[in-house]
Amino acid sequence: MKNILTAPFVEEMKKTTANMYRLGWDERNGGNISYMLEEDEVAEYLDLNNVLRTIPTGFDATALSGKIFIVTGTGKYFKNVQDDPENNLGIIRIAKDGTTAELLWGYADGGRFTSELPAHLMSHMARLTVDPSNRVVMHSHPTNTLAMNYVHELDEKSFTHTLWEMCTECIVVFPDGIGVLPWMLCGTNEIGMATAEKMKEFRLVVWGMHGIYGVGKNLDEAFGLIETVEKAAQIYMLTAHLPRVNTIKDSEMVELAEFFGVKYRKDFLNL
Ligand code: 13P
Ligand code: ZN
Repeated sequence: MKNILTAPFVEEMKKTTANMYRLGWDERNGGNISYMLEEDEVAEYLDLNNVLRTIPTGFDATALSGKIFIVTGTGKYFKNVQDDPENNLGIIRIAKDGTTAELLWGYADGGRFTSELPAHLMSHMARLTVDPSNRVVMHSHPTNTLAMNYVHELDEKSFTHTLWEMCTECIVVFPDGIGVLPWMLCGTNEIGMATAEKMKEFRLVVWGMHGIYGVGKNLDEAFGLIETVEKAAQIYMLTAHLPRVNTIKDSEMVELAEFFGVKYRKDFLNL
C-alpha cells in the first residue's frame, strides 16, 4: 500500500487550498472543497474495507452511494491544509443507505466534513445528471465577487452581463452564466437544495453576500471559473464608481462566443 500523503489527489488539494488562501479568497475556515475520486486510485493508498468511523450526513445522497470524496473539514483553515492534511482533510465514502458517510482517512483529530456537505453532495448529484465528467465542487469567499454583491443587483442576467463586460474572456469561460441565490442561511439542507437546483443550469452559483460555488471535471477547472469571475469582479469594483468611457458591446460578445464556438445564454444579452 502506498503512502496516502504522496497521493496526487492529496497533493492537488494541498496546492489548491494554499492558492485559494494566498489569493485571499478563504479567510479563517472560509471555503470548502469536495472532489470525487475513483475507487481504483484510492485503493492504491487505503484499505477500502477499513472504515474508521461513520458520520451521518443528515440528508439523502443515495445517488452517490459507494462514491468516494476527499473533502475539507469543517472549521479547518485552508492555510493549514498544506502542512497538516490528515487533520484538515478527510476521505469519505457514501454508504449504501445514502445518509451515512464512511470515513476512510483523515479528520484525525475527531473532526468531520464541511458544514456545507449538503450543498456539495446535492450539487454533485445535480451536475452529474447534466455532465457525467463532473468531479469537483468548490466554495469560496473571493473578495471582489463578495464586494460586488453589495453594490450590484443580485439578478442572474444583469450580474452575468456586467461580468461578461469586464473581461473579453468572460463570455468564453462561463458562457452559461452565473446562477444567483439571495442571502440564505448557510450550512443547511435548504441552501443545499437551492444550490443544486441552480447547478442543473449553471456551473457557477453566487450565494448572495456570502460567496460563490464553482464546479468542474477537476480542481483546475472549478478554480479557473471562480478565478475568472473574481478577476472580472475586481475590474468592476475598480471602475464602478468612475465614468464608463468604453465597454465590450453585446454584438462583440456574440462575435467572441461564435468565434470560440461556445453555447452561450443569448437571453442574458440585450440584442
Ligand atoms: P466549514 O468550515 O464548515 O467548511 O464552513 C466554511 C464556510 O465557508 C461556510 O459557508
Ligand atoms: Zn462560505
